[in-house]
Amino acid sequence: MAGAVAALDAQPVVRGHDVAITAPHDRRIIVGRAPETTQAQALTALDAASAAQAAWDALGGHARADIPLRAADLMEARLEPLVALLSREAGKTLPDSVAEVREAVDFCRYYAARTREDFGAPKPLPGPTGETNQLSLHGKGVFLCISPWNFPLAIFTGQVAAALAAGNTVLAKPAETTPLIAFEAVRLLHEAGVPKDVLHLLPGSGPALGGWLLPDDRVAGVAFTGSTVTAQRINRALANRDGPIATLIAETGGQNAMIVDSTALPEQVVDDVIASAFLSAGQRCSALRVLCLQDDIADTMIAMITGAMDTLVLGDPSKLSSDIGPVISQAAADGLMAHIARMRETARILKALPLGEAHAHGSFVAPHLIEIGSIKELTREEFGPILHVLRYPASGLDALLADIRATGYGLTMGVHSRLEGTARRVFAASRCGNTYINRSMTGAVVGVQPFGGAGLSGTGPKAGGPYYLHRFASERTYTVNV
Ligand code: SER
Repeated sequence: MAGAVAALDAQPVVRGHDVAITAPHDRRIIVGRAPETTQAQALTALDAASAAQAAWDALGGHARADIPLRAADLMEARLEPLVALLSREAGKTLPDSVAEVREAVDFCRYYAARTREDFGAPKPLPGPTGETNQLSLHGKGVFLCISPWNFPLAIFTGQVAAALAAGNTVLAKPAETTPLIAFEAVRLLHEAGVPKDVLHLLPGSGPALGGWLLPDDRVAGVAFTGSTVTAQRINRALANRDGPIATLIAETGGQNAMIVDSTALPEQVVDDVIASAFLSAGQRCSALRVLCLQDDIADTMIAMITGAMDTLVLGDPSKLSSDIGPVISQAAADGLMAHIARMRETARILKALPLGEAHAHGSFVAPHLIEIGSIKELTREEFGPILHVLRYPASGLDALLADIRATGYGLTMGVHSRLEGTARRVFAASRCGNTYINRSMTGAVVGVQPFGGAGLSGTGPKAGGPYYLHRFASERTYTVNV
């Protein structure tokens, strides 16, 4: 990947600003610098976005859809520098970085197609003789898009492309740890044809920007991906306004379980568990957190999984040999280590991979396998390469499903079973947005596995699904008596 890094060097991202962004795998490396948006800048951007919205909406769905299509082509043409930057700034492995660029491209093309279909022309509706009725979709106003560090290009681009395509103007707030890739995405969207006053990037502190912007009635909606606690805070801030009722689209975390019964194929389970729990350093909201093993196969499965864990290589994410990169920050690593320390008191550590010296300068957390007695012991969303294991008796599936549901989360669920009845039973009993049978439970594909959950895991609609754009829009009915 030396070529990609060279391409990045030849095309610097941001210069001369305030905050140094360092590489998670080695904090001595400064990847770039990013500004902190001030209150005056945030409000000026809101003024401009608010003034530009009506004209942007009036362009119509066909004209707006052309722009994400051009952006997708530009992203493909810049695959190498984007991959290099993702790997450096977000600590993503090369396969994860390539997959992320592809997902961003997929979001652009998928939402462009949906925009043509749903926003391209008013939908004629039935009516009595002499009357015509039409339904059309329009942007709501200014959308605040708040995106996470774990998919700093794909989710950033997906939220922004959707909000824009639906006819909104956008204030985009990237994660504090990953603003540089967001600069690239915005530069590319502007180059693709989004007017400057229609899309504004506001890097900086989430609480500060939220404090300035959420109380303002001109913010018609918020698209947020991140923690449940922050989504709840945003929801409360929006609810406290006296003005128009704002839309909140929130996609949050999960206490995601995989249920493995005694009919499962062990080798397939091992592959899918390793991929779902440990790859991407466990930093996907879809990642497997609790592996539920039917008790008569549990010992065999645990031995196979711990054996497979021994083959995992932690290291510099820009090296092809690395399976697992760093976690995003030292604060994240400290939080995960504190969880492991608590678990040492109450649970059984089945496996802890060693952290080599190569990781002295970065924020790495070694994969851990921890046996717990009940899913109720997990009270927080842990976001890292830590997998909990829970045994359940063959007669205890319904009780297990009830416990999983009682967590309040509902994002992803995995099942490994050759009994179709069991898979259907789990699907019927779960509220999860995405259920995966006999495969890994991460890596939802845009337009194929629309992604998003329910309850504490989010509001819906699903990203990459046919109804996503509608939540960014207002519907208007036009009736003419001729
Ligand atoms: N959409 C991602 C996945 O499916 C998670 O954010 O893994």
